[in-house]
Amino acid sequence: MNFRVRPVRSLAGECEVPGDKSISHRAALLGALAEGPTEVQGYLEGEDCLRTITAIQMMGVEVTKKGPGHYRIAGAGLGGLVEPTDVVDCGNSGTTARLLIGFVAGQPFWTLMTGDESLRGRPMKRVADPLRRMGATIVGRSDGGRLPLAVRGAERPRAIAYDTPVASAQVKSAILLAGLRADGPVTVREPAPSRDHSEVMLRAFGARLERPDARTVILHPGPLRGTTIQVPGDISSAAFLLAAGLIVPGARVTVRRVGVNPTRTGLLDVLAAMRAPITTAAYAGSDASGEPMAALTVTAAPLAATTVAGALIPRLIDEVPALAVLAATAQGSTEIRDAAELRVKESDRIAMLGRELAKMGVHIEERADGMVISGGQRFRGARVASGGDHRMAMALAVAALVADGETVVEDTACVQTSFPTFVDTLNALAGGDAITVER
Ligand code: S3P
Repeated sequence: MNFRVRPVRSLAGECEVPGDKSISHRAALLGALAEGPTEVQGYLEGEDCLRTITAIQMMGVEVTKKGPGHYRIAGAGLGGLVEPTDVVDCGNSGTTARLLIGFVAGQPFWTLMTGDESLRGRPMKRVADPLRRMGATIVGRSDGGRLPLAVRGAERPRAIAYDTPVASAQVKSAILLAGLRADGPVTVREPAPSRDHSEVMLRAFGARLERPDARTVILHPGPLRGTTIQVPGDISSAAFLLAAGLIVPGARVTVRRVGVNPTRTGLLDVLAAMRAPITTAAYAGSDASGEPMAALTVTAAPLAATTVAGALIPRLIDEVPALAVLAATAQGSTEIRDAAELRVKESDRIAMLGRELAKMGVHIEERADGMVISGGQRFRGARVASGGDHRMAMALAVAALVADGETVVEDTACVQTSFPTFVDTLNALAGGDAITVER
């Protein structure tokens, strides 16, 4: 499947984006481990999160779809899961794979897991290391560092205090999930704070959690109680619409009900630094849940270059493809540092951004841990490739909206993993067929 993208003359209106991917995965996993039912509204029905639902169903958890994005999960309790009778296929989803390894690391049975070609190339040692210390047996390719792999969970995982070498919410969450059945408190310390959706949701499920500082979490093992979860819109999907609204001349775009958890809003900080006209209107009371929501409005304007580095990186890691497109239009050079993690996402996003945006006439200097994007550039219509990476596909499509001439983005079925309504939403804002899908 390809996108054929025509430059647009205008972009205006209000829209919503599908549910947050990170929060959706966690709602399914914690719902499965809880006692009693959990109702989830706004669940992201993209391929990645549906993989997580299939995985818990394979372990005996009953999941009932009650409407669009509305699921009832009959919790099995911490000790009620069963050994899956087949290999769990995580598809393209790193979050499914890494969180699931932690989820089953405290379950005394074997789970076999695999994924698509991209996921089979992504590092799993970062979760295998701490989970082995907790007593799980993890075997597989590259000594258990790559899928396919098999996990034999520990009957009673050992309590650990773990300093993660990378600021990764997936690693942190895998340890916390295993820690629910541990023989004592589990501590995770990160080099910089990563998204805290697991901590927020664990509390909603009644878990006892301490957060002595922003980089440290201590979980006291114990049962979870089923609850109701309202999933906010995914800021990582909204990022593409906001980027489009900032670069299409005369545009004004509002995205409603976007999750603005402060561990995820690095993009908004960077947009402010780039002098982007953006307003954030919080929904009253939405912060009580720990997952606040806001309506975000942008109007097109000239942008200034900036530097993105340090503790900001984990707060916007998935937004770098959209940011790179914005930076190419800004006045001056934008530098992104401390972001080597981009090389092990759904694709090597540093290499991919450099290579594919070059086809559109943009100069990006690749660095080991980031890139320097020359600003003040105009995109040229071209034939570009997503490399099977959903966020690359959407970033290239956004650039194409303001290119000279038509662009074809190849290999775009991957957009289904996180933002199945991307094309329809953009076309509605453009008031016509800016993007046509070619099968
Ligand atoms: C995620 C964490 C991030 C992010 C990914 C989702 C999560 O990955 O890039 O899209 O839901 O925990 P890392 O934990 O590897 O940084």
